[in-house]
Amino acid sequence: MRVIEIIQKKRDGGELTAAELAELVAGYGAGSVPDYQMAAFLMSVYFRGMTPSETAAFTMALVQSGKTLDLGAIRGVKVDKHSTGGVGDKTSLVLIPLVAASGAPVAKLSGRGLGHTGGTIDKLEAISGFRTELSSQAFIDQVNRIGCAIAGATTELVPADKKLYALRDVTATVDSTPLIAASVMSKKIAGGSDAIVLDVKTGSGAFMKTMDAARGLAQAMVQIGTQVRRKTIAVISDMNQPLGSAVGNALEVAEAIQTLRGSGPPDLRELCLALGAHMVVLAGRAQSAANGRAILEKLLDTGAARAKFAEMVAAQGGDRRVVEDPTLLPSARVRVPVESPVAGIVGSIDAQAIGIAAMALGAGRATKDDVIDPGVGVVLVRKVGDPVKQGEPLAVVHASDPGKANEAVGRVKAAYHVASWEPLRRPLILEVIA
Ligand code: URA
Repeated sequence: MRVIEIIQKKRDGGELTAAELAELVAGYGAGSVPDYQMAAFLMSVYFRGMTPSETAAFTMALVQSGKTLDLGAIRGVKVDKHSTGGVGDKTSLVLIPLVAASGAPVAKLSGRGLGHTGGTIDKLEAISGFRTELSSQAFIDQVNRIGCAIAGATTELVPADKKLYALRDVTATVDSTPLIAASVMSKKIAGGSDAIVLDVKTGSGAFMKTMDAARGLAQAMVQIGTQVRRKTIAVISDMNQPLGSAVGNALEVAEAIQTLRGSGPPDLRELCLALGAHMVVLAGRAQSAANGRAILEKLLDTGAARAKFAEMVAAQGGDRRVVEDPTLLPSARVRVPVESPVAGIVGSIDAQAIGIAAMALGAGRATKDDVIDPGVGVVLVRKVGDPVKQGEPLAVVHASDPGKANEAVGRVKAAYHVASWEPLRRPLILEVIA
């Protein structure tokens, strides 16, 4: 079929075959399908959507645009985890060693942050010496040796997604559920794991602002996983305020270490246990989520998960002393409290605004070439539902200079809404789609 006929068929609401989608994506990768035709196709998908079979076929066409990681040399059921991105989301730092400590192998490929959300690779690089660029062989060997590894995804995996994402970004076609689902799942499938747990975030700091949008994305991704025989579960979690207290790379590593010690913020611990319980069930290490959770609680509370994190840090060349002494992590010179202008109860915290404040301090990137400052960020002292007196701190800004600190103080103050009544609180875990 000619490319124009494929576009026409989608434009008119027809269902494309796997062969047609494969031809389109392969042509785009090879350069024979130009950007203007692909842009027309993307806009047709934006308005017409895709059936579950089309979405799965499109995903596999993306996977076939590059190399895939063969994790067959790793013993056991390999289980991966993916978050659609949030503010203060350091769950991977806790979850990967925690699940590995249960005996389930975890080979995790992660990305860098862009915009108001952070990336696991940037966070790990706050640990002096930590290497995130591993060859496939070194990655596999490490998982076989110690049970886990976290490495940066290479450009060889799903190159068509990279090219397509850049095109979607400039053609107003990013926020299409089948396109997002195929983009995320193609990278997970190319990463080679047998099972996938997805953390789909919804709220002010998330990509999916509404519950309906999050549910639609979660269902689309689970359907893709099921169609290509990867056991997939999606957990929809709240991102109406940042997760935990710390936002910023070294600050988040320190908070993850605290959580691996069995303490840490309750919401972070809760989310790690909920996601981890599904991971150990999919890996065949527990009969039920309740049983999986009990196993993981013990691993947190006995120090076994923290020991596994230290092992991973050392295996990847990082300074393992930070696990015992997080004060060795990079820190910011200037610390300024953000004082509450009124007395009351914290009613809401605009997660996206906190993410932007941290990014402007240097914790994230506005463009992909920006350089990260690992020590800076924001620590929330009060979260939704906490009482506060006038002049008491809502948060503390960690900055490299007083000018940037002042700017961030204004942003953080504006992100907090202090009310005179108890806010409606929604649960952290909103739904599970299996
Ligand atoms: N994250 C991805 O990886 N792809 C998208 O399309 C959107 C968010």
